[in-house]
Amino acid sequence: MRVFQSPLELKNELRSLDASIGFVPTMGALHNGHISLIKKAKEQNEIVVVSIFVNPTQFLKGEDLDKYPRREQADRRVCELAGVDYLFYPNADDIYGKDEVTVCAPNVRGYILEGTSRPGHFSGVLTVVMKLLNIVNPKNAYFGKKDAQQLNLITLMVKQMFMDVNIVPVDTMRDANGLALSSRNEYLTPIEKEEALKIPLSLKKATNMVMSGIYDVKRIKEEMTNILLPNEISYVAIVSREFEPLEKVIPGNSIVLVEAVVGSTRLLDNIWL
Ligand code: PAJ
Repeated sequence: MRVFQSPLELKNELRSLDASIGFVPTMGALHNGHISLIKKAKEQNEIVVVSIFVNPTQFLKGEDLDKYPRREQADRRVCELAGVDYLFYPNADDIYGKDEVTVCAPNVRGYILEGTSRPGHFSGVLTVVMKLLNIVNPKNAYFGKKDAQQLNLITLMVKQMFMDVNIVPVDTMRDANGLALSSRNEYLTPIEKEEALKIPLSLKKATNMVMSGIYDVKRIKEEMTNILLPNEISYVAIVSREFEPLEKVIPGNSIVLVEAVVGSTRLLDNIWL
């Protein structure tokens, strides 16, 4: 595995290869969710590139940018073991300068749900993903369904900016109890971890209701809200795969989303129905 810090050096190196490139952008503290993206990229491409960059522009003031887990040595080892060919490990100065061109998230879809809790967050995500895709220039780029709104907005950006990359969605990896894996789970105390299990339980409830023929969004959201602790809920929502609000679940075209703050940790989860 070769490690690059410089965007232009990596770009030149990758440009010289005559091989299909699969790319997995991450913020590190790698877990099995990230590894499942890498595995899929390995299956579908000749060369796999992973980036690890805790992107400052997607954190709002007062969020966890400073305490976000950074684990360079362990992450390098994970990438090596997973068969990654190139690891891109830039510093903030390598990616950002002063007075820069940026990408703005769309006014509606970028400012609902997580965009309401974190206004401006998705502009930071889209800006860094645009830069990373332009540096790596992959054939395929892999993103988790766990961050469904992020995945939707990146897919939109690539389409609307006529970019030449295929965005591949990857299923959510969970621990044995059902909790979706996340680098932020490390912030949870054992008691908070127990509490957090209500999130996948509420999604299971929604799934069971839909499977028994109940499609009414209001009713499903009420049942889910009863499972979750009221003071912890940021939102419970059911939208189409294009993130339009729904009154009735459309099987095959719906996403049920939950954002809850457990202790002081923001947790996201969803299920695609
Ligand atoms: P990060 O949270 O490190 O996640 C990197 C990728 O892993 C994202 O596509 C995310 O959806 C996926 N992922 C996270 N947890 C997962 C799980 N349990 N199962 C499957 N996939 C999972 O998302 C980001 O970083 C950043 O916003 C980034 C896109 C890198 C831009 O900075």
